[in-house]
Amino acid sequence: MRMPTFCIINGPNLNLLGTREPHIYGSQTLDKLNEELKAYAGEIGVEVSFFQSNSEGALIDAIHAEFSRKTDGIVLNAAGYTHSSVALADAVKACNLPTIEVHLSNIHAREEFRKHSYLSPVARGVICGLGAKGYFLALDALKEICK
Ligand code: DQA
Repeated sequence: MRMPTFCIINGPNLNLLGTREPHIYGSQTLDKLNEELKAYAGEIGVEVSFFQSNSEGALIDAIHAEFSRKTDGIVLNAAGYTHSSVALADAVKACNLPTIEVHLSNIHAREEFRKHSYLSPVARGVICGLGAKGYFLALDALKEICK
């Protein structure tokens, strides 16, 4: 049996992790986080790939591409597009891959506009407020879902 393959997709401004509001998002860079996620994926016996973009269309194209290559699941931190993008939610729904929505911060404990997510209704699950740990838990969850 082939190893389950997941894609971790990060949206706008997450390329600035490490320097961007570290009191909210932590001081680890995205490269470092991805390195750790890759190692963790190896430990739990899954494959991961990574994608980050600051543009909405590129994120939608990435979800379509994962669908075409029959990826088993997506970890998606759509960052600011979470709260604004009907099109991204439509892509998740159209592709129908198990998708775990992740946020580093607790979006429910912040500004009002962050409390609404277009993605939550189409996500298989949502993890927020646990910092980088959320991505690792999302991989565990996808592995479980794909059993
Ligand atoms: C975020 C929360 C969003 O509200 C924000 O726009 C981000 C990051 C998080 O990971 O906590 O860019 O998705």
